[in-house]
Amino acid sequence: MWLTSMEGTANFYLGAVKKKILPEEFLTDSEYDWLMAKIFVRSADFSEHQLNAHLLRTHLLAEVFAVSLLRNVPMVHPLYKFAASGGKAMITILKRSLSSMTYSSLCIPDDIAERGLEAVPNFYYRDDGLKLWDIIHRFVQGVLSYYYKNDAEVQQDSELQKWILDIFEYGFLSQASTGIPQRFTTVVELVKFVTMVIFTCSAQHAAVNSGQYDYGGWMPNTPISLQLPPPTTKGTTSEATMLQTFPDVNTTVQGMATMWLLSQQSSDFVPLGHYPEDHFSEKIPFKLIKDFQGELEVLSVAIKVRNKSLEVPYTYLDPTAVENSVAI
Ligand SMILES: [Fe+2]
Repeated sequence: MWLTSMEGTANFYLGAVKKKILPEEFLTDSEYDWLMAKIFVRSADFSEHQLNAHLLRTHLLAEVFAVSLLRNVPMVHPLYKFAASGGKAMITILKRSLSSMTYSSLCIPDDIAERGLEAVPNFYYRDDGLKLWDIIHRFVQGVLSYYYKNDAEVQQDSELQKWILDIFEYGFLSQASTGIPQRFTTVVELVKFVTMVIFTCSAQHAAVNSGQYDYGGWMPNTPISLQLPPPTTKGTTSEATMLQTFPDVNTTVQGMATMWLLSQQSSDFVPLGHYPEDHFSEKIPFKLIKDFQGELEVLSVAIKVRNKSLEVPYTYLDPTAVENSVAI
């Protein structure tokens, strides 16, 4: 497996050298130099993924949204019916991650466009995620337009305004450059923000959480820690130094166990779009929930059909596997 991967890497760099993007000396670097470089990148990516993509951008955000709701909005408000949440280096990574967190990066249609990923082939996170966003958006639009008949009603709802202001002040440290709204002036703005909250706490969390064992169960692909510093001199690596660099058996097993646990469906799993508490009793919201569930079912079938033809099926955003809130 490594050899195949090394071959791919070698071909990639050969191409880059031919295009004069890289100097020729790159081709002579030893197999273990390349392997170790990739291992250190993968290990750094593990920390970035856990702390930024997973912890900060789903778990901690879900807490911000929910705590602000509890502080400012009475229990009878319809927004309640949507919400549920169940060392030094870490702080540095989280601080840096927070400083680059923007509203648009949390909204998948904007995020994909900003990163120029519209045409990347076989990108199922984007394909399924955009469809899920649209379905959630239609549902939120239906429910909130039922409760807020016009923009003035949004502007005059002081509890709603306090909710978003708390999120802006405490969750995004009053940084206007994040693009996070400080107040809602239109129903359209409110609908987009609530769609982002639901998407972040359900679909986005599933996308970054549920595949962790699949992706990281093979330790060299995601070393949770490394025992030696990255080599700084070329030609000093070998199989022996690689093995010394890897985490020991206990650390490896603990990492695998954690990733396995995080990737398991919880025993009290509630799928996206299902509200066992029966919050909605009025006729129109009740019908909107049924429509929402129907659309999610159609998407689920489409994803299952698509996956049949894939060598590695992408299942994480199948609505039947997406928890309705951040659970683990
Ligand atoms: Fe999680």
